[in-house]
Amino acid sequence: MSTTNSTWPRQLRLPGQVAAAEGPIDMRMMYVMHHAFRRDLDLFAAAVRATPGADRSTWALLADRWELFAEVLHEHHTVEDAGIWPALTRLGTAADVAVLDAMEAEHGEIDPLLDGCATGFRRLAQGSGQRGDEDARAALAVRVSAARESLRRHLAHEETEAIAIVQRLLTAEDWARIEEEHAGTDVRLSQVVRIVPWAAYGVPREALDRVFAQPGGRGFRLVWLLTRGRFARRHARTFRYA
Ligand SMILES: [Fe+2]
Repeated sequence: MSTTNSTWPRQLRLPGQVAAAEGPIDMRMMYVMHHAFRRDLDLFAAAVRATPGADRSTWALLADRWELFAEVLHEHHTVEDAGIWPALTRLGTAADVAVLDAMEAEHGEIDPLLDGCATGFRRLAQGSGQRGDEDARAALAVRVSAARESLRRHLAHEETEAIAIVQRLLTAEDWARIEEEHAGTDVRLSQVVRIVPWAAYGVPREALDRVFAQPGGRGFRLVWLLTRGRFARRHARTFRYA
């Protein structure tokens, strides 16, 4: 059964995204974050292969960027595990609950992979002699590619199955309430200025304008205008070999 409703929002579609289930909830912020996670893992995989083991200042930039990526991903998973999946589990069928359990299990599989990568980036930033650097780089390449594969699989699963459940079971009001309860309650300005230019980087302008047009979006737009130049310069240095 394929149902659409003329009052439903037009869903955002970004590069790499595999589905955009129709329904009453505007998932644009979710898709912007998924785009940023995919983009970063692709870049990290290329950078780990191409960055010389002894270039410590670039590894230090990569380690910092990994920290930001992992912090945002961890926060994203926490909101889903604490707020979104439990709300759906209460309303769903046995088949829905199996998908939601899989979502949580996949998060549990990804998080340890991220910790291993963070350690690898820090080790290369500190340096450990030529041979040690090359060994560390080879080990990190394996870890980053495992994290990338695992996260790509998970995001595809989430977009095709879990978000379809969100759209079927929740109303826009339910969604707003979950977001209010679990996300962004005490976000500091220092976090906003780090996360906004990161999330927006590489998002097509038309899609960004749609994000900035939503309630609260004008503040994000202002932060983005003030931070994007500095972010882009640092991004270029971080991924100079990628
Ligand atoms: Fe997600």
